[in-house]
Amino acid sequence: MGTGIEMISDLISRTGDLRRAFRDQKFSPDSIKTDINRYSMKETANMVGRSHQAIRDAEKTGRIPAPELGENGRRKGFTLKQINQMRDVFGTRPSRDKDEEPVIIAVQNFKGGVAKSTISTHLAEYISRSGYRVLLVDCDSQASSTGTFGYVPDDDIKEEDTLLPFFRDEEETLHYAIRTTYWDGLDLIPANLHLYSAEYELASDVSSETFSTLRDGIATVADDYDVVIIDPPPALGMISLNVIYAANALVIPMPPSMYDFASTISFLTMLQETMSVLERAVGTIDYKFVKLVLSRYDENKSAQEELVKLIEGEFGNAVLGAKLRESAEIVTASYNQRTVYELEPTSSSKVRKRCLNILDSVNSEIELLIRESWPSHAKKLRDEGIL
Ligand SMILES: Nc1ncnc2c1ncn2[C@@H]1O[C@H](COP(=O)(O)OP(=O)(O)OP(=O)(O)O)[C@@H](O)[C@H]1O
Ligand SMILES: [Mg+2]
Repeated sequence: MGTGIEMISDLISRTGDLRRAFRDQKFSPDSIKTDINRYSMKETANMVGRSHQAIRDAEKTGRIPAPELGENGRRKGFTLKQINQMRDVFGTRPSRDKDEEPVIIAVQNFKGGVAKSTISTHLAEYISRSGYRVLLVDCDSQASSTGTFGYVPDDDIKEEDTLLPFFRDEEETLHYAIRTTYWDGLDLIPANLHLYSAEYELASDVSSETFSTLRDGIATVADDYDVVIIDPPPALGMISLNVIYAANALVIPMPPSMYDFASTISFLTMLQETMSVLERAVGTIDYKFVKLVLSRYDENKSAQEELVKLIEGEFGNAVLGAKLRESAEIVTASYNQRTVYELEPTSSSKVRKRCLNILDSVNSEIELLIRESWPSHAKKLRDEGIL
């Protein structure tokens, strides 16, 4: 027995220990999460856009470092960091032109559990693996994206490490909050539970700036990135309003179930109403693209299949062609606080391959939309017959 607050405090004090125990079970204490991927010569040549021979020649002449060898004397494979160094040496690292805008994507739906964070983290890794400079902004106080990158949000991340100081006007730019990750080319602005305070702090003194704070903050760092991905909270609050105004593209995950469909319709209606209010307060909102993504799709459920057909018929190309199917690999990855791109290949490599194909098709479609929005890339894509 105790007061309500005491009883809840007791529960909270237990969660800290649990979270730490969970982290220590996944990652040995004090260990730092790293990118374990090594890419073969074939994959590397593809990613760098140069032949095996050109890479070997560059190694011989010292333009790029000599290959790392394993104990057996064979090449260990290249890390993403080494691949990006090669791209820099060969001049093949892709980017937007300096005078083109970075694409700022909000993976938004006010509904919880629709795969916003799953899509945000996998998209961020996929796009940066292509060589683009990516910033992932965790705007959710539940901090799932932050957790994926190896942090225990309320232990490793303090409130001054999140967006909060910028929301409070204590910082002039967002540089203080940016941290590099083990995934080369991908930076993160982390979140923790305290970020929730921004909801009522922003609401306590509403002016037009209240809605444009995140947009202004991202503008202070956007020069350094090609793509910014925002993982928002599952609610229509002050932070989500900021996300809607900060973004210049929307990806809306929607599981094909009747409940989720109904709530996505109300999300779209609320979004439209919210945007009219925002436009009156702060100005026009232009999006480079708005795409629905069918997420958590289970093709074994015939009711879902029917709904998917209806949705695709009605929404046409406003729905991404690729669907993020329900996959055991995503469940395993999430249990291990990793992405599927970070899982070590297991014996069930067929399941894994299938899941990687699904993720790659979703992400490559979004990558194409991003590139289409940059005139310099759109021209290249047309020349290559892709557009
Ligand atoms: N395609 C999938 N297959 C299997 N599990 C999935 C899939 N997509 C998402 N999940 C799981 O569903 C849960 C919710 O996903 P996620 O956290 O990405 O949703 P969210 O929209 O960010 O949720 P929230 O609103 O709480 O922020 C997670 O446990 C995730 O691992
Ligand atoms: Mg989430």
